[in-house]
Amino acid sequence: MNMTKSILKDQAQTLTKAETEALPVAKSAAHDKFRSPLRYPGGKQKAIEQIARVFPTAAGEYREPLVGGGSVYFHARSIKLAKSYWINDKFTELVAFWQSVQDPDICRSLMTELESLRAGFADAEEIKQYFLKAREENPEDSYRQALLFFFFNRVTFSGTTRAGGFSASASLRRFTASSVERLSPMPEALRDTKITCGEFQDLITREGDDVFLFLDPPYYTATRLYGKGGSLHAFDHWKLAKLLAKTKHRFLITYDDCPEIRELYKFANIQSWSLQYGMNNCNLAKESKVGNELFIANYDLSK
Ligand SMILES: C[S@@+](CC[C@H](N)C(=O)[O-])C[C@H]1O[C@@H](n2cnc3c(N)ncnc32)[C@H](O)[C@@H]1O
Repeated sequence: MNMTKSILKDQAQTLTKAETEALPVAKSAAHDKFRSPLRYPGGKQKAIEQIARVFPTAAGEYREPLVGGGSVYFHARSIKLAKSYWINDKFTELVAFWQSVQDPDICRSLMTELESLRAGFADAEEIKQYFLKAREENPEDSYRQALLFFFFNRVTFSGTTRAGGFSASASLRRFTASSVERLSPMPEALRDTKITCGEFQDLITREGDDVFLFLDPPYYTATRLYGKGGSLHAFDHWKLAKLLAKTKHRFLITYDDCPEIRELYKFANIQSWSLQYGMNNCNLAKESKVGNELFIANYDLSK
């Protein structure tokens, strides 16, 4: 009887553990289907509701030339904003990641490999040693780029990937089984989306039917957060403004509120708003973590 009890107890414990692990995963799979699985510097996940208020209700095509962690794209997809989608970024490993998780087979295989990598680490020190070796790698194949991109995204400060340092606490709290599980809805969330790696201009100048452009450029006063060692920092704000001044597509762009940007976009409609940050940004007071932002659009923002 004791044996039966102990087997039952074991099963009960296994079930309880499985249930405890499965519940948040199942919940996130259902609720976060169209939510970014990435931490991203300057990411707009926390501002989604505010952005949603100034979004158009429908569009023929949604284009996001500076997609980054994709939080706004996933929102657009969630509300079925458009008939087709085109996302782009210049950050090679990030785009390799999005393209890899778009493919169901590749996504599954990435998840398996990431989970086995994760489960094999005994402690933060082992993760750190792997991180230090991996940082020296410069893989040519997009699968390895994608895998390392996700790994760096989980174990660095604020998800700064290669531009940031290893964080023992992030590695333990963020590189979890459920973080890997969050990749499972990606093939569906990215289905038929055109994903390109390049400069932003193509998406602005290419003709299209009822195109809506959303753009979230690096802040005018930003730190070096993107690309390898922050190499994507140099950003031509002037060129972007000139292209947007000429475009026939509807556009919405978010920026940090500063006189230079107000001057560049004086041809458009400008509305100010506040964003609560999860990380410090160099142009913000550290204590408040509230950023003064701008919405800039060539359509009426008050409706
Ligand atoms: C502020 S982030 C976008 C964050 C995104 N909205 C989110 O919620 O995660 C800006 C992005 O622009 C990309 N970028 C910078 N310069 C670029 C360029 N010239 N062409 C295309 N993408 C660029 C960066 O790699 C970065 O991912």
